[in-house]
Amino acid sequence: MKAIVTGAAGFIGSHLSAHLLEHGDEVVGIDCFTDYYDPRRKEANIAALRGYDNFTLHRLDLLTAPLTTLFESADVVYHLAGQPGVRGSWGEEFVPYVNRNVLATQRVLEAARDVSLWKVVYASSSSVYGNAETYPTTEDLRPQPVSPYGVTKLAAEHLCELYRVTAGVATVSLRFFTVYGPRQRPDMAFSRLVDAALSGKPFLLYGDGEQSRDFTYVGDLVTGLRQAALSPWTGVANIGGGSRTTMNEVIDIISRLAHPIDVVRLPVQRGDVRHTAADTSVARDGFGYTPHVLLEDGLAKMVDAARLVFAVDQV
Ligand code: NAD
Ligand code: UGA
Repeated sequence: MKAIVTGAAGFIGSHLSAHLLEHGDEVVGIDCFTDYYDPRRKEANIAALRGYDNFTLHRLDLLTAPLTTLFESADVVYHLAGQPGVRGSWGEEFVPYVNRNVLATQRVLEAARDVSLWKVVYASSSSVYGNAETYPTTEDLRPQPVSPYGVTKLAAEHLCELYRVTAGVATVSLRFFTVYGPRQRPDMAFSRLVDAALSGKPFLLYGDGEQSRDFTYVGDLVTGLRQAALSPWTGVANIGGGSRTTMNEVIDIISRLAHPIDVVRLPVQRGDVRHTAADTSVARDGFGYTPHVLLEDGLAKMVDAARLVFAVDQV
């Protein structure tokens, strides 16, 4: 399998690339190292991939890259590049969300239409649901995003469905539910919590901590991404972790695994949903997705990985 991974230097893209390479796939990464967070973290993310002969990286922006040429000999495109972050997508900050999530996806799909790919797998998001009417949430519920970010992820998902139905591009849109694991983006809660536990710096908690998420371990997610790519299945499916946990419970677990956390409470942030929970039966029946990693075990892996980085930083 020859795979293109857009966003290969990011949190999920680097884990996916490693997973594909371990399974013998050839990987061509595309990433323009945006400065949403420190690009040195992205350089570190891909450092381990350089040891593989069948990995190449193009430092290109999807908005201008010669995508048809790049996709010509590929079997699968995993389209993970995008502008993430729910709370920062308001006001002037909306522009990169439109560019990197909507316009970039349209270019990916146009190029995919020009060549004969087996599959395009798109990184959609639980944020398309907004405050869902029922939990666990099924894909047929009407999406009602409550953040501009969610609107752009939904628009790109609609583009994938449009090209699938009208242009014969075999797309799968997977709605990821809050993904965690080593190398998680530094703007996300677990990354900040582990940092707070190891450094003694305070953690800023938005709201009362009773908001809950269906947290998904990144190893489970990348397994599901490859399963979806290999299967003949197309369409839209949830990818969740299998249980729902509040932020207060997460704070307790990380405090036990590392050190007690100094929590400073701030108001609820605009764009945040109260709860998420995924019904994953479509992904299970469609391509065999089953999450295996329990939250406490996944958090232990995150704490161990962060301890190593922390120890190196102290030298
Ligand atoms: P990330 O920011 O770590 O990775 C995204 C990568 O895409 C970055 O390395 C960035 O440089 C690159 N990129 C952005 N725009 C680009 C462009 N125009 N051309 C080339 N490269 C570009 O984010 P992540 O957390 O790994 O998320 C990956 C994808 O999954 C995103 O599309 C995000 O919306 C989606 N997603 C993430 C989560 C989560 O919990 N992390 C949940 C749902 C959906
Ligand atoms: C995450 C990703 O950041 C989005 O890119 C993704 O699309 C989304 O999951 C998804 O599932 O679709 P979010 O659920 O907000 O978004 O994940 P976190 O940023 O880790 O936040 C989790 C909870 O912790 C939220 O309630 C948030 O308000 C809270 N939080 C976050 C804090 O209390 N403090 C922080 O410093 C950061």
